[in-house]
Amino acid sequence: MGDRREREVVRQAVPVDRQTEDQAAETVRQLRALMTPEGAGALGRAAALLDAGTDAVAALTRLRAEVGADLAGPAWGIARQRQKARATFGADADRLLFTGDTLEQAGRPELAARRATRLLAGGADSVADLGCAAGTDTIALARAGARVLAVDLDPVARELTAANVEALGLADDVWVVAGDAVELVDAARGGEVAGCGAAVLDPARRAGGKRQLDPDRWSPPWSTVAALLEKVPTSVVKVAPGLDHERVPVGVEAEWVSVGGSIVEALLWGPAVSATWRRATVVRAGEVHELTADADPGPAAPGPVRGWLHEPDPAVIRSGLVSLVAADLGATLVDPTIAYLTSDRPDDGPWTAGYRVDEVLPFNLKKLRALLRARGVGRVVVKKRGSAIEPETLARQLRGDGSATATVVVTRVAGAPTALVCDVT
Ligand SMILES: C[S@@+](CC[C@H](N)C(=O)[O-])C[C@H]1O[C@@H](n2cnc3c(N)ncnc32)[C@H](O)[C@@H]1O
Repeated sequence: MGDRREREVVRQAVPVDRQTEDQAAETVRQLRALMTPEGAGALGRAAALLDAGTDAVAALTRLRAEVGADLAGPAWGIARQRQKARATFGADADRLLFTGDTLEQAGRPELAARRATRLLAGGADSVADLGCAAGTDTIALARAGARVLAVDLDPVARELTAANVEALGLADDVWVVAGDAVELVDAARGGEVAGCGAAVLDPARRAGGKRQLDPDRWSPPWSTVAALLEKVPTSVVKVAPGLDHERVPVGVEAEWVSVGGSIVEALLWGPAVSATWRRATVVRAGEVHELTADADPGPAAPGPVRGWLHEPDPAVIRSGLVSLVAADLGATLVDPTIAYLTSDRPDDGPWTAGYRVDEVLPFNLKKLRALLRARGVGRVVVKKRGSAIEPETLARQLRGDGSATATVVVTRVAGAPTALVCDVT
């Protein structure tokens, strides 16, 4: 894989405006200053002031006096990112460098480790991380035993990745280079990209602070994603959870991952690593549960509301596997277009959250309020699916004096706007 560090794989091809270039150069200069012994001292002071709850103005005044104006601002900025990163990165956070953007783009390290292990299981030992940002994937791949070529167009990202692998003692296995993933994938041959037998691609899906919903506008764009999956079979691409199933190439496994009931990532696995058609990975209370289907299981059948309502985990819904869960529970959909299931029994498995159904009525605010009063319900949590109501507003409108609580689910049942009053206690 050539010399360590700044080997120029492909000359930076995407034009960056002058101001952005100057800003990047200044950020790189500041990061380098923070890596000197004086910079480390400034970072330590900034962290101490932050941990002591000192407000920004007072902290910056003290820092300027103690470590100089040049180091004060950057040290404070990094200390703040580290404080934010602790919840996700644990003990590593205080050794890593992030800018606000790269921390926002960083995946969860435990999921990056899981991806790295699966990608390398077939024996690949060198991986191109195409768009390394602050290096979360690079670090996970190196820790899993790979030699990693970490590529990014952005000099700040390269600086951060180089500093972060150094800080974690992984620099001997990582080469950080400037390169354009579009060109590298174009040039991929013989199942390899940039001389590596495996690849991770995590396109930037935000621009100007906004989410880019159109995969053709990601950076690199969808054409590079599709080309990588075709040309480099041992590859994994992180995509937006809302990706249309139609886009998933034949022979590519799509996986949706949720943690604590929220979708956190969606992945496309190259043909050499694909093991199934779709996979829902649900992480609950630290335990990982996986549901797979080798072919489209089709939709679940609809049926009347019964004693229990089941809300499938978003990873199950997005992966198109609701009907597998329905079959397991003996459940039906409340409506062919709504992902709520209903059955006669509770589900203690990981795939759904369950509610005992106490009342079912056509959606009508006055009647709903009267029913809740009659049952002594004073506070409700409102959930909705397939309805335009605003849950917080409806919860306020339904508030009463009673001491009981309930969950009110507003949805469509066989096409009709319906309220399900659940778990009255
Ligand atoms: C979503 S971030 C990657 C995050 C990283 N995987 C992590 O978990 O920390 C995408 C990165 O790709 C880089 N990028 C975007 N387009 C690129 C291209 N054409 N070639 C190389 N890097 C690119 C961006 O600069 C950014 O750092």
